[in-house]
Amino acid sequence: MAFLKGDERARYVSGMFARISRRYDLMNSVMSGGRHYAWRRRAAALAVEGLRGSALDVATGTGDFAFDLARRQEVESVFGLDFTRKMMMLGVSKSARQRLARSVSFVEGDAHRLPFAADSFICVTVGFGIRNFVDVPAALREMVRVVSPGGRVVSLEIVRLDGSGPVSRMARFHFRSVTPWIGAVVAGDREAYTYLPQSAQGFMSASELSHAMEEAGLKVTTCRELALGTVAIHVGEKPR
Ligand SMILES: C[S@@+](CC[C@H](N)C(=O)[O-])C[C@H]1O[C@@H](n2cnc3c(N)ncnc32)[C@H](O)[C@@H]1O
Repeated sequence: MAFLKGDERARYVSGMFARISRRYDLMNSVMSGGRHYAWRRRAAALAVEGLRGSALDVATGTGDFAFDLARRQEVESVFGLDFTRKMMMLGVSKSARQRLARSVSFVEGDAHRLPFAADSFICVTVGFGIRNFVDVPAALREMVRVVSPGGRVVSLEIVRLDGSGPVSRMARFHFRSVTPWIGAVVAGDREAYTYLPQSAQGFMSASELSHAMEEAGLKVTTCRELALGTVAIHVGEKPR
C-alpha cells in the first residue's frame, strides 16, 4: 500500500473505507476508549467560537464531526463532504436519527477539488481524514480557499510521535501489533487496520502539521495534544 500514489491510492483508500464502513464507528470507540466523541466536540467548539454562518466538514465519513458542528448555536448549516458514498450513507441515516437531517447536507466529492466558491464557510474541519489525502498541501490550500477571511481550518488527527520514550514506544507497539488484531476481531478486516495505523506512523508530527498549515496560508493559533500526544487538534486562522 505504501507504494501506491495519486489516483490509485485514492481508490484504495475509498474502497477500504467502503469495506469497513459498517464497523467504522464501533472501531473508533474500541480504539479510543470512547474518547473520539469528546475530541470532535472539543474541536468543533474551537472551530466556531465567536463566528456565525455555515461550516464544511471535509472527509466527513459517517458524519460525527458534521453533527457536532450542527449542534453549535453559531452554525446555521453544515456540509459534510466525502468520496466514499457508503460511509456517507450511514451518516445520512444517523442524521435522521439524531434529528439533524435539516441542518447537515452530505456531498460526494474530493478534498483536493472542493465544489464550493472561495470564502464560503466560517470554518472547515477535517477529522482523522487528512493523513489519507494523497496531496496534503494541495488539500490544505483547498480548505483555505473555501474558508472566509477570519475563519478557521481545524484538523483533528492522529500524529506521529517520534523519540524513544515510553509513550512513543507504547504507541508504536499498539499501532503495529494491537490495532491490526482488534481490526481483525471487531471489524473482520485486518488489512484495513494494518493500513490505518501505518498511515498514522507515516504521517506528520504535530509540529510538521502546524508547519504545513502555515505553508498553506493559515496562522496556527492552537495545537492541542490529546491522548498522550498521539492525537492533536490544530486550529489555523485565515488572515483577513
Ligand atoms: C478515518 S475516516 C474519518 C471520518 C470522520 N471524519 C471521523 O471523524 O470519523 C476518513 C474518511 O476520509 C475520507 N477521505 C479520504 N480521502 C478523501 C478525499 N481525498 N476526499 C474526500 N474524502 C476522503 C474517507 O472516505 C473516509 O470516510
